[in-house]
Amino acid sequence: MEIEKLKQRLLSLSLEEKVGQLVQVTPDFFGNKGEITGPLGQKIADSTRYQIGSVLGTHRAAEVKQIQADYLAHSKHQIPLLFMADVIHGYETIFPIPLALASSFDEELIERVAQNSAVEAASEGIHVTFSPMADYVKDPRWGRVLESNGEDPRLSTALTKAYVRGYQGDDLKKETSLAACVKHFIGYGAAEGGRDYNTVDISDVELHQNYLPAFEGAISAGVQLVMTSFNSVHGVPVTANKALIQSVLRGKLRFDGVLISDWAAIAELKNHRVAQTSRDAAKKAFDASVDIDMMTDCYSEELAAIVEENHLMPQLDAAVWRILLLKNELGLFENPYRGLENKVDKDQLKVEAFEVATRSAVLLKNEAILPLKKEDKLLVVGTKAATTDVLGAWSWIGDSDTAISLAAGLEKECSAIEIIAIDDEKTDWSKIKLAAHAAEKVVIAVGEDSQEAGEAASRAKLNLSAIEQELIDVISHENSESILVTFSGRPLVLTDVEEKVKAIVVAWFLGNQTGTALAALLTGQKNFSGHLPMSFPRSVGQLPYSYQEMSTGRPMTEENADQKYISRYLDEENSPLYAFGHGLSYSAFTYSELRVSTDELRSGCELELSFEVTNESELAGYALPQIYFTDEYTEVIRPKRELLAWQQVQLDCGETKTIHFTIRPEDLAYVHSDLSRTTDPGEFRFYLAKSALDIVSAVSVTYVE
Ligand code: NOJ
Repeated sequence: MEIEKLKQRLLSLSLEEKVGQLVQVTPDFFGNKGEITGPLGQKIADSTRYQIGSVLGTHRAAEVKQIQADYLAHSKHQIPLLFMADVIHGYETIFPIPLALASSFDEELIERVAQNSAVEAASEGIHVTFSPMADYVKDPRWGRVLESNGEDPRLSTALTKAYVRGYQGDDLKKETSLAACVKHFIGYGAAEGGRDYNTVDISDVELHQNYLPAFEGAISAGVQLVMTSFNSVHGVPVTANKALIQSVLRGKLRFDGVLISDWAAIAELKNHRVAQTSRDAAKKAFDASVDIDMMTDCYSEELAAIVEENHLMPQLDAAVWRILLLKNELGLFENPYRGLENKVDKDQLKVEAFEVATRSAVLLKNEAILPLKKEDKLLVVGTKAATTDVLGAWSWIGDSDTAISLAAGLEKECSAIEIIAIDDEKTDWSKIKLAAHAAEKVVIAVGEDSQEAGEAASRAKLNLSAIEQELIDVISHENSESILVTFSGRPLVLTDVEEKVKAIVVAWFLGNQTGTALAALLTGQKNFSGHLPMSFPRSVGQLPYSYQEMSTGRPMTEENADQKYISRYLDEENSPLYAFGHGLSYSAFTYSELRVSTDELRSGCELELSFEVTNESELAGYALPQIYFTDEYTEVIRPKRELLAWQQVQLDCGETKTIHFTIRPEDLAYVHSDLSRTTDPGEFRFYLAKSALDIVSAVSVTYVE
């Protein structure tokens, strides 16, 4: 619709109709069942039902068609409803969870996943997805690390941008695209103790250095919506934090799109005890420029009076305008049934889901036991051996009955295989012992089920269950040739079991094609290429943990390790069990020394880092060279090493490639105590590495302003 006409539409709305545009409900209010992902308590008067602006959590095209038609038949102004949903890692075809996708370190792959998810969701009538989740995370006790891009802000920024590009495409009017909503602004991942919805306290330097960049990236990629987080920052819940939203989100990051609250977050301002009544809550959120109230009746009941009493019509018009613009960008005025006629090639999506899953699993350890041979006499045993509960959280349209279990995948590839699925109630240990003894190799499949990671799924213990640990013990006594496959939505603590097995594969939750992808990887038809986007700690006591360890006054070094007054644990090592960036493959990659184009980088110039990587093995594969750097002297403390660049390099057997990275001075900037992000002159050290803790070579360069 032409902008002038749209303006007329806005002017024609009454106060109540304007407020209605700011209200979001589930399909239950139209007599259909929706996806419920939070507490219910919203009441919407019958008279306002046909004024509301958006619906979240519909399932299928027919439902969207019926609700939209019913709504438009009753609506005076013919402003179509917006349909939003959590399309987090696919719609009906489920791809690996985001943390698994991040293991690919591959922006193109993630862009493709987002694009494919958009195609499928748009055909079911969805217009907006509540994705990507750009939260900075370093505490795997928090179940929502499952939805994150891992612990490195630079990696997360690149992947967040890729999601936005993939969902939105180059033109939102294309009926195969979705508008993206980046979440949760901001600080949600810092929930104290890793307990979901718990309070947060972070410094400004930390906020600007680590939490904001991925949001800034999403906004620079044109993201249409932002969602506020449940938590507080600077003592004020973000949904009511006018100062933060105005100065940072709307100010510094220049976000002028739609800001939506998280589920019930406006009413929850009362639980936070920063609002006494629903009216206070609505006023605070509205003042903070939260445009859409997700699933409470604060706006629908209170906002009209607030606007009248406080003469806030210009602010209300601005909020409604942002929503109308979004509807217009999506082409809803031309076609309120956008996408519903789209045809989707489901078989092609299946192929994609398989390819992506093979790129998302991580091989942590392999003492010459993998790949399996077709004729290996195999026992597949464990709590996750035959389960199809492998889709992971946020796969509500996905059907686990259509998912392929590990055992089903392996059965197709291996000729002699016995499967024993176990659970707490009925474990026949003597049968397991006999089978383990008789097998040539044992695949032990253990880990979380899909309810144990995601929203409201915090855990204080991250080790395997007692029965799983017992299983590993029993097997290790019977057969030394065992491979551990772990399923999880977060890094687990594997310290007690890692020495009892010869190989470890992190399967995360790989989606519909879990079994086929794992079978292809375990049998060597596909090569492993995933790398950890989050460190695996040795112990829960190390958490929160990031490989980006900050400098301290008393660091532990090789020389002082026997002294007392240094930063260390008495009963645990400081390092993780498996570091960020770690991941093996069946190929063997070697690297030359790292070279620099100059040892003096001048302002306005670029630095080129280069090296050769060779595949010395008989198998084609992907290498993931990683560049880290250290700024030797800084104004505020900085990490000892941080990721700067990476590249997935595909190499045939015997092939060598020369890799170049171009570095600009601004890539080396950091947030100073006055919150400016600038690069200090002085010495920098660059590292070529296989993981955050596995350095191949290093070189120093001086930056001269
Ligand atoms: C609550 C979650 O925090 C958020 O991520 C999600 O998008 C909404 N519910 C809607 O389901």
